[in-house]
Amino acid sequence: MLTAAGGASGCDQEILAIAHASVASRLRLWRPPNAVLAGMQRMVLSQMAATTQALEIRGSRRLTGTVAASGGKNAALAILATSIMAQGPVVLEGVPQVGDVHTMLGLLQRLGSQIAVHRCGSDGDLGPYWLHLQHPTDGDGQVDADLVRQMRAGFCLLGPLVARYGRACIAMPGGCRIGPRPVELHLAGLSALGAKVEYHSGFITATASKLRGAVIDLTGPCGSTVTGTINVMAAATLATGRTIIRGAALEPEVVDAARFLNSLGADIRGAGSSTLEIHGVDCLGGGSYRAIPDRVEAATLLIAGAITAGEVTVTGVTPRHLDAVCRTLREAGAEVELGLDRVTVAVPRPLNGFRVTAEPYPGLPTDLQAPLTALAAVAQGRSVLRDRVFPHRFAHLTGLRQLGARVARHGDAAVVDGGGYALDRQGVTQTVAATDLRGAAALVLAGLARTGFTQVCDIAHLDRGYQHLEAKLASLGADIARVAVAADDTARLMPLWAARSA
Ligand code: EPZ
Repeated sequence: MLTAAGGASGCDQEILAIAHASVASRLRLWRPPNAVLAGMQRMVLSQMAATTQALEIRGSRRLTGTVAASGGKNAALAILATSIMAQGPVVLEGVPQVGDVHTMLGLLQRLGSQIAVHRCGSDGDLGPYWLHLQHPTDGDGQVDADLVRQMRAGFCLLGPLVARYGRACIAMPGGCRIGPRPVELHLAGLSALGAKVEYHSGFITATASKLRGAVIDLTGPCGSTVTGTINVMAAATLATGRTIIRGAALEPEVVDAARFLNSLGADIRGAGSSTLEIHGVDCLGGGSYRAIPDRVEAATLLIAGAITAGEVTVTGVTPRHLDAVCRTLREAGAEVELGLDRVTVAVPRPLNGFRVTAEPYPGLPTDLQAPLTALAAVAQGRSVLRDRVFPHRFAHLTGLRQLGARVARHGDAAVVDGGGYALDRQGVTQTVAATDLRGAAALVLAGLARTGFTQVCDIAHLDRGYQHLEAKLASLGADIARVAVAADDTARLMPLWAARSA
């Protein structure tokens, strides 16, 4: 059932232009034709090349209060990609305003989708998006290479495109630099469904007049694959007959994508377990859907409360999705209280060191390894944080060290000798550069705990996945501000900082 655009309570009726960068999302145009959009995106890219943004943080403020979680970034991305199979209009609510969502909308728009974007709530920039999508009835499945190289989730278009249009051509995806990110399980799954999959000069082409059901195993060396499960599961919904996927990822984002596809008429059973059974249907209709809350953003905000010895409640969450991080916070000595749709963390006494291993769901998410490493830096004693999903995901350690953390890498683990709440007591101004999305969050968290000023540069990484994190942190009492700087002149930040600290 499609919700009419005009019927959205709390949503303004402004239709915004689609763009793939947050700067562009502020340009207000009525459904721009392709030429206008392309010009707009070029302009945004040149603006982005000329300036970059940084966060300035004056740390050591105890965060307290209540803040709402945004819609799930990775859930929304998977839903947007798989929605291309819908023949009817699709309405998506609660979509976070983050860079990767803009990139995905750009990808869909280039594929011919009609998209209208509404901003919800009175707080404009801070509210979620409410999207109306109508995908084309026909297409050549040619995915924009520049955009798909900017993130991982664009690769989730491969299966849906070949299932709907019989052809997909897509560049190898980009995304955070967190170690090797192969796609052979995606390709093996689609081949098993009967697609002819070819690789040539950095592009994958998949073709099939009609996919057919198969038995597929998606177990990889580090567990299953989240986006791979979504890609193959989605394609199988339009295959002839029955598909069994063994070794399916259990992550809530996979379950959410399955629920979304079922709401369009797909027949996917077993989502949330390691075996999926999919009965192919002829076509998918339209519908309206709201993605699950962002469990990684919610956990990041809880860690912000803990790292400042504060008391923070995050609302609008699914607490069971946060089980693993709540266990870790408790192990570190924090008090954690669960409500129906909220989690509160409080730190009445100094934290102690903890040992955790990032694993596939329901284990601790790899996406929280970096934020928790920042937390370990203020705990008393030694912590060990192992990452079994992405064993090379440690680029953030350099920045954390610059901010005063005593951390060393040992193979697939970070070993942190926490100094209690003494992260850089000298109050020195320190500039660090973000290297990836969750690493950027870790640097911001460490900045909140430091006595001095912290400048976190290159926060385009952060903006890919957190919707105005600084505004949420400021609402909890953090002294944090966003500043624009010339990309080639981050040194100009220094006088600005001197002025702020005076
Ligand atoms: C998703 O990435 C998320 N991205 C990641 O979040 C998250 O860290 C990751 O799942 C693990 O939870 C999106 O949903 C867009 P994988 P994905 O395929 O699907 C190996 C963030 O910060 N593997 O589940 O790309 C792989 O090397 C991002 O929001 C193969 O061996 O991750 C890794 O060891 C970063 N062969 C493991 O599986 C394959 O063909 C899990 O990767 C595919 C993956």
